[in-house]
Amino acid sequence: MTDIPKLKTLPDAQSVTAVTHWTDTLFSFRVSRPQSLRFRSGEFVMIGLMGDNGKPLLRAYSIASPNWDEELEFYSIKVPDGPLTSKLQHIQPGDEIILRPKPVGTLVIDALLPGKRVWFLATGTGIAPFASLMRDPETYEKFDEVVMMHTCRTVAELDYGRELVEGLINDPLIGEMVEGKLKYYPTTTREESPHMGRITDNLANGKVFKDLDLAPMDPTTDRAMVCGSLAFNKDVMAVLEGFGLHEGANSEPREYVVEKAFVGDGV
Ligand code: FAD
Ligand code: A2P
Repeated sequence: MTDIPKLKTLPDAQSVTAVTHWTDTLFSFRVSRPQSLRFRSGEFVMIGLMGDNGKPLLRAYSIASPNWDEELEFYSIKVPDGPLTSKLQHIQPGDEIILRPKPVGTLVIDALLPGKRVWFLATGTGIAPFASLMRDPETYEKFDEVVMMHTCRTVAELDYGRELVEGLINDPLIGEMVEGKLKYYPTTTREESPHMGRITDNLANGKVFKDLDLAPMDPTTDRAMVCGSLAFNKDVMAVLEGFGLHEGANSEPREYVVEKAFVGDGV
């Protein structure tokens, strides 16, 4: 008997394998990975659903899974009236989404000069590319220390990142590489938690260096990757420049790189 291939109803269709709702505004999901899809941890792709007009409704999404994973993971906002996420938030295992297999982006280790310590700086869903990079052995091969700073308004909004970091230590593939190298510094700004405050402030006033017992940023050893709202990106870039770091790109590696977590208000 010959196997009949599963009929794909959407162009570039991938099957949803798991969905987790973290808060009423945040969820993550996993989908099958096209066999031919190769990507560098930190890159993004266009994903979406078929719109009511019969045309694909696509948005940029950072791949949150590492490049060795058999599936792809995404971490998403739920915008109440958002054209895509008002629908995407209802997907369930077995459903199909559209995934254009053309990964791109600047949050890649190749766009940084070699260094000793790398800082991952994210607000909100901006942690998604770092969920990939934190699970990639290459990150720990290239850097002696990795500092993950993630800031959200509330404690619950940190859950996805916290669970991921806690799971890394026990991961059979990467646990040993991560131990002692990955420093996690989650903060909230509008709800009480062990560490409070904006990333910009905690870098500029030296609180994070003091709390983690680290030397201040030095452009000869430190590298940074930034992903948040436009306003956050702009402000954190000014702080990094103040430490003597400069923005790089795929074509010209430097001390830090930046990507928008979304397009919208906030500048
Ligand atoms: P849109 O019409 O796209 O957005 C409506 C409004 O919602 C925006 O104007 C903005 O104010 C707000 N908004 C949109 N996305 C976010 C967000 N992530 N956080 C806070 N507010 C937001 N989104 C993700 O959830 N996860 C990702 O990994 C992700 N990666 C991205 C990577 C890049 C390079 C870019 C440019 C955007 C990324 N986005 C990501 C945003 C994503 O492309 C969509 O904007 C989002 O899915 C909402 O789609 P929508 O059609 O429902 O609403
Ligand atoms: P705050 O609560 O002080 O505004 P948002 O949901 O608005 O995108 O914010 C996500 C997190 O990023 C919040 O903790 C917020 O802090 C912080 N944030 C927003 N804008 C900036 C900025 N320009 N610089 C530093 N942190 C910011």
